Amino acid sequence: MYESSLPKIWADGSKLSQVWTNYLIDNALDAMNNNGILELVMKNYGERIEVHITDSASGMPPEIQARIFEPFFTTKLFCKGSRLGLEVIGRLVENRHQGPISVESYPGKTQFMISLPVYQPQA
Ligand SMILES: Nc1ncnc2c1ncn2[C@@H]1O[C@H](COP(=O)(O)OP(=O)(O)OP(=O)(O)O)[C@@H](O)[C@H]1O
Ligand SMILES: [Mg+2]
Repeated sequence: MYESSLPKIWADGSKLSQVWTNYLIDNALDAMNNNGILELVMKNYGERIEVHITDSASGMPPEIQARIFEPFFTTKLFCKGSRLGLEVIGRLVENRHQGPISVESYPGKTQFMISLPVYQPQA
């Protein structure tokens, strides 16, 4: 049996790390114009872990928030990537990792929350 203080999660490592590095952090930095507070928190709830990515930018109005997981949706004049960003994350996290992704946003705070199941060894 392998012992570790950090829980293991069911995940496709390379794809999962892109979730918060390439996409969510990028979005947060974009929103803050590289000037603000970016907070990354990982919480351990035993059977699940939660990753929170929070920025201090101006947030999104509800009508934008409602559309951010649509493919090709963007509010940016010049977007860096394929504009599939959040649509890809939503699918990846929810299909591959059985974890919901949620967002809370208002002026001064946008927080993306990803919940991932911890690997439970079969007895
Ligand atoms: N942290 C955030 N704060 C404010 N708005 C956000 C944040 N994250 C995402 N958004 C909104 O969600 C939209 C979609 O994000 P998504 O990453 O899918 O595409 P994009 O960032 O516009 O383009 P690309 O990722 O290709 O540069 C953004 O255009 C922006 O309006
Ligand atoms: Mg983006």
